[in-house]
Amino acid sequence: MNKDALIAVAMKAATLGYTPYSHFPVGAAIIMKDGKVIQGANIENSSYGLTVCAERNALFRAYLEGYRKDDIVALAVFGHTEDPISPCGACRQVMAELVPPSTPVYLANRHGDSITMTVKELLPYAFDGAVLPEKK
Ligand code: THU
Repeated sequence: MNKDALIAVAMKAATLGYTPYSHFPVGAAIIMKDGKVIQGANIENSSYGLTVCAERNALFRAYLEGYRKDDIVALAVFGHTEDPISPCGACRQVMAELVPPSTPVYLANRHGDSITMTVKELLPYAFDGAVLPEKK
């Protein structure tokens, strides 16, 4: 599946979210090496901070289906924005944890334009669990 097809899936996934508070649907799609595509959308909550973004929902779904970082080929994120959507900081940190640093992330807008950034470009010098102490 090419970049535009993955963005089209992310655009469709945006319609599956739950956004009664922001009215800002976002969609995400992840293509795996085996060809499977996993979708995500933002799911909001009246206690706003409990909202989970499209990117994180897609990544958590992928992991729950048994995939791991080395299975991931690319991600697409779509939002009804003028410029290509910019993932929030929390999602960048989760990408840094669950996706290889060189993986392309296609960021698309309402006009069908996109830019491509790697996970590492989205979050340089990310906090890395490798610095945490071993369990004694
Ligand atoms: N949102 C995402 O789902 N992904 C992003 O990349 C940016 C923000 C959601 C969270 C919330 O439901 C709405 O967009 C407004 O912040």
